[in-house]
Amino acid sequence: MEQYEREHLGALRRIAPECMVLLKSNGDFPLAAPQKIALYGNGARHTLKGGRGSGDVNVEYFPSVEQGLENAGCIVTTKAWLDAYEAAYEAGKNPFQTWLREKIAAEGMDRLMENLSIVMPEPDYDIPLDGEGDTAIYVLARQCGEGVDRGAVPGDLFLSKTEIRDIMTLQKEYRKFLLVLNTACYVDISPVAAYIDNILLLSQPGMTVGDSFADVLLGRAYPSGKMAATWAAWNDYAEISEFGNREDTRYREGIYVGYRWFDTVGTKPLFPFGFGLGYTTFMLTVGAVSITKTVASISVTVENTGSFAGKEVVQLYVSLPQGKLDQPKHVLASFVKTEELQPGETQAVTLSFDMADLLSYDATTCSRILERGEYILWVGNSSRNTVLAGKIMLERTVTLEKVTPVAGETDFTDWKPMCGDRTVKECAVLTVDPDDFTEKSFVCPSPDDDAMCIAKKLTDEELCYLCTGEFENEGSKQVIGDSALTVAGAAGESTGRFRHLGVQSIIMADGPAGLRLARECGRDENGVFPRTPPTDLRVLELIPEDMKKVLLATLSGFKKEERSGETYYQNCTAIPVATALAQSWNIDAAEMCGDIVREEMMRFGVDVWLAPAMNIQRNGLCGRNFEYYSEDPLLSGKMAAAVTRGVQRDGRHGAMIKHFICNNQETNRFRTSSMVNERTMRDIYCRGFEIAVKEAAPIAVMTSYNLVNGVHTCENRGLLETMLRGEWGFAGVVTSDYLTGDKTPSDEINKYRKFRAVPSLQAGLDLVMPGGKAHYEQMLAALKDGTLDRETVETHAARMIGCVWKLRGKGQKEDV
Ligand code: BGC
Repeated sequence: MEQYEREHLGALRRIAPECMVLLKSNGDFPLAAPQKIALYGNGARHTLKGGRGSGDVNVEYFPSVEQGLENAGCIVTTKAWLDAYEAAYEAGKNPFQTWLREKIAAEGMDRLMENLSIVMPEPDYDIPLDGEGDTAIYVLARQCGEGVDRGAVPGDLFLSKTEIRDIMTLQKEYRKFLLVLNTACYVDISPVAAYIDNILLLSQPGMTVGDSFADVLLGRAYPSGKMAATWAAWNDYAEISEFGNREDTRYREGIYVGYRWFDTVGTKPLFPFGFGLGYTTFMLTVGAVSITKTVASISVTVENTGSFAGKEVVQLYVSLPQGKLDQPKHVLASFVKTEELQPGETQAVTLSFDMADLLSYDATTCSRILERGEYILWVGNSSRNTVLAGKIMLERTVTLEKVTPVAGETDFTDWKPMCGDRTVKECAVLTVDPDDFTEKSFVCPSPDDDAMCIAKKLTDEELCYLCTGEFENEGSKQVIGDSALTVAGAAGESTGRFRHLGVQSIIMADGPAGLRLARECGRDENGVFPRTPPTDLRVLELIPEDMKKVLLATLSGFKKEERSGETYYQNCTAIPVATALAQSWNIDAAEMCGDIVREEMMRFGVDVWLAPAMNIQRNGLCGRNFEYYSEDPLLSGKMAAAVTRGVQRDGRHGAMIKHFICNNQETNRFRTSSMVNERTMRDIYCRGFEIAVKEAAPIAVMTSYNLVNGVHTCENRGLLETMLRGEWGFAGVVTSDYLTGDKTPSDEINKYRKFRAVPSLQAGLDLVMPGGKAHYEQMLAALKDGTLDRETVETHAARMIGCVWKLRGKGQKEDV
């Protein structure tokens, strides 16, 4: 292991416990010393460090919970159970694969990739629970990944019959029992939650997972995470919110996502947003609110009142006035995580927020406003455990921004709650002067002048090469995460044809759980290549012959290439998946993860990281929720901004936030339309992106596969030019998500047609990824016949050149 690997793993091991949320505790844990452990559950030996798909990171090794316990000196007494489970899982594959084979044959090529992404639900089995020892641990794991949503079925979103039975039995049979949830996605644990004394949401904290778990179990570290999303019984989620429609999915619940829904309607979740226990207890003493101009602050003293070290997350929520606009019961406005506090130790923290950041979109005036009335501040350690901290009065409604609607039309109005009485008891009221708010004027950044000069001198052909990813021959033959030519296993790169002009290619690799590259690689006279195919070729067995042929002809990842040449390794660190990182509520930890990624980008020659992914966790069924931070835009935005700062710290590496916007489901992901009203889109789904853009200036933004209100996001000029660039001042490049073109399902079976390169460039997209001849030719033809105006393409090309210069240094202009 090289020095950088050791350092990165060491750093990860320090922060992983911060990502774990202790959901229930009766004080039986931590254990005082290593001992015999009766270890059960599908995640015990097959522990998950993260999820599947482009968000997976190819690592050399990571310890399972079983190995972590053994490394720490425990004796696992259930080897027979763990072996028998593996056999039961293998046996369960037969019926599943038969079902899948038939489904693939019946649904054909158009749904092939979606079907191949389906995760097998946990099978049922009957294995005696007879491990020795006083303490039992059951590790329940759930695998999720891109390309398909989860199943509302036992063994996936729900617990299987076997899991319920075994968990309940272990709780009764052993003196101490801990249920460990090795999932970064929601699982409905309501059938067991009330009966189990100790539950730890281990999540998927990256490649020290097993060792980090042992650290926490044995009290060598303590969990200090808090929920980044509300977990409730599945039946308690908002029924009005549609999900998974192949054509149009209506976001009828409007702004009432996650705790905004639960806390407003008063339904008690199992584990609220922001909730998490530790090995100790804390007392919060809330000081007075103060206000300077428009910034409100409140000091809180946190005391560790228990007998173990710990960290607390202090959260500030604000109830906005119910005026012309309806508002949720409260929204997160600020949070701070304390330092490590020893028993008896105290720390004073200050929470502040700018009132202007509480703005809401008002459709009647097309503006972003703060309504007159009382803003009520609450402080606590979850959305459900707060105390009244103060009130701020705004005497007059203020308009902060006049904007242009960009979302498009829907055929429904958003759900609104019955607005009950929300008066709260008397307390000190401060006032904020409406005149202290200034209405914002927008400045849309223009491309670098020198870059524009170069672009102007390029031929039409050259301009088009700059606006599409580098491709060979026909191009677009690659699968996700394997399109780059220069760095093995990187996701893609921009054109390298203009090196003589000082414009290098930009190498892009996936995230968000670390840097996704091929680990074992080869180098021969034709260049570099991954030694192991990015796709598990065993899936080919499930595909009928005719479909197999098409697949092999079009996607290189499904071919086994025998190449010789020297072998080398790219060892990258799998950091916590985004949800786990958000559960740390630790901005410094997030920034440090960005540093880890940047150092590895530098080592392996990657310029842009295709992350953070920061869509809102709208529904527990979304297959990619683990790649996203939270149900809350503020927490998502702050986390993404912190990671971006880490990645971009040296000014030579860039982050690409994604997927812009409303990529909240995977079902029919290339052609489904998220139907969402302007206010909801802006206040919930765009807000995190806006925070990340304004706070951390990511070098790039990736549009989403899905459409919004019937328009592909990469073809929506309002989104890209008016809002992202115009209102938010985004100065980087906008790229499409990958394979948005020729390899996606056919137009005939879909309500919406494929995305097109030409309207996308007209709408503000700079770069079509991963690149292909078809897109290049479409652009060129449109430029030649005048459908695509040359100046538009020059602007995109200039932005690309500007981006290269930023990351690689400014080119030699004298060559031009
Ligand atoms: C995913 C992106 C990813 C890209 C490149 C797409 O399928 O949606 O998140 O960055 O592939 O691998």
